[in-house]
Amino acid sequence: MKRRHFLTSTSAAILTAGVLSQSSVRHAFAQGQTPRTRLAMPPLLDTRETGRVALTATPGSTAFGGGASTPTAGYNQGYLGPTVVMQNGDLAAEVQNNLDEAITTHWHGLLVPGEHDGGPQQAIEPGASWTPDLTIAQDPATVWYHTHMHGRIPEQVYFGLAGVIHLTDGQDDARGLPSTYGIDDLTLVLQDRRFDRSGRMIYDPSMMDIMHGFAGNRMLINGQAGATAVVPEGIVRLRLLNGSNARIYTLFMDDTRPMHLVATDGGFLPAPVALDALRLSPGERAEVLVDFSSGGAPVLMSDPGQAYGVLQFATDSTLSARITHLPDQLDGAPEDLSGAEAVTRQVSLDMGMGGMMMGGGGFAINGRPFDMRRIDFEVALGSVERWQIRSTMVAHPFHVHGVRFRVITENGGPPRPENTGWKDTVLVPGEAEILARFDQPASRETPFMFHCHILEHEDAGMMGQFTVT
Ligand code: C2O
Ligand code: CU
Ligand code: CU
Repeated sequence: MKRRHFLTSTSAAILTAGVLSQSSVRHAFAQGQTPRTRLAMPPLLDTRETGRVALTATPGSTAFGGGASTPTAGYNQGYLGPTVVMQNGDLAAEVQNNLDEAITTHWHGLLVPGEHDGGPQQAIEPGASWTPDLTIAQDPATVWYHTHMHGRIPEQVYFGLAGVIHLTDGQDDARGLPSTYGIDDLTLVLQDRRFDRSGRMIYDPSMMDIMHGFAGNRMLINGQAGATAVVPEGIVRLRLLNGSNARIYTLFMDDTRPMHLVATDGGFLPAPVALDALRLSPGERAEVLVDFSSGGAPVLMSDPGQAYGVLQFATDSTLSARITHLPDQLDGAPEDLSGAEAVTRQVSLDMGMGGMMMGGGGFAINGRPFDMRRIDFEVALGSVERWQIRSTMVAHPFHVHGVRFRVITENGGPPRPENTGWKDTVLVPGEAEILARFDQPASRETPFMFHCHILEHEDAGMMGQFTVT
């Protein structure tokens, strides 16, 4: 029950179920000690000098929060993978699979051709490797990588096969943005996971779990339970990735200090947007600036109506606060694609009876469950399309490979602030219209996917594929 409280009640619970109380953090600093569990960043893997990235899918054994150990998997480590720093240009990637089952590795948010995208057609068998030569040419953004092995994606991601990518142009100083990794620029992979009484992480979805998506009873941040993020007394950049299988977060700071949104999935906004709460569905990223100059020990929370703690912060006045005011402007320029569209398509994200008609357990798109041998749409290379997306039963986070898109309307109105920039994944509570230009080619052999990013839904059939030629 105690662990359950961590996710289902307020900040008081995070503190009892977690490791540190606010006063003990302050006390620890007063004594010049480091707190017992300080949140660690994933290791950095900077490809800018070498032009290469080598990722090895590796079996691991992880004792989360000191509980019983769980067999896990990661890239180059036992759970999750390094934060890979990339820049525009050529990048020789190599993914080696040292697991005993086939995986793929998809670059979620990188704009690369279908043959390098790492979708379900590009299985890497045990002992084998995959060597896509990536040519990257896009705006700076926080993107990510994860396995996309059809039939296995929920378990493989759950047990660790994911990591973050910082695509950078080296201009963050000019933008006035924090950029010191792990000090004032934090990468935060948000994942809820289910633990049994011994502290072992488990994945045992029931029918209901598949319907709603598999939810956990405890938060992990960067694979760590109960850790405290220690930050300087200045402006701190949080690069948030919802790496959960299914949980949708509505994030806010418990002391109501605002979060200033500076970037969405596909890049920067034109200017920061102050938010009291930020919604983040599976697959989405958001970069926010939070002002810690007044100190304090706030808690990042989720779900205002039924709040639970996500991450405890503590300030440390000995860390250098390099950025002390918010930038007024950023150089993000989400392009207005309206008026250019050639084709309009309907995309119905079906579950229950709608998808049931055609078999496949009820999960489908436009009534048809995913079939790796069927191409659903054929898109003309370089064209702009308007996709009208409609969710059934629950809100589905909708993702498209190979593009970044603009959200034009949500339920007939203007998009929420979170959805005004470049996106590749958008939560669709009812209906949404998006516009995208399809600049990356994809053949019938290696088409692009479009799908719900609730991994249980995707794997059960709520996915389709398209070519771009
Ligand atoms: Cu994050 Cu099709 O993937
Ligand atoms: Cu993707
Ligand atoms: Cu869904």
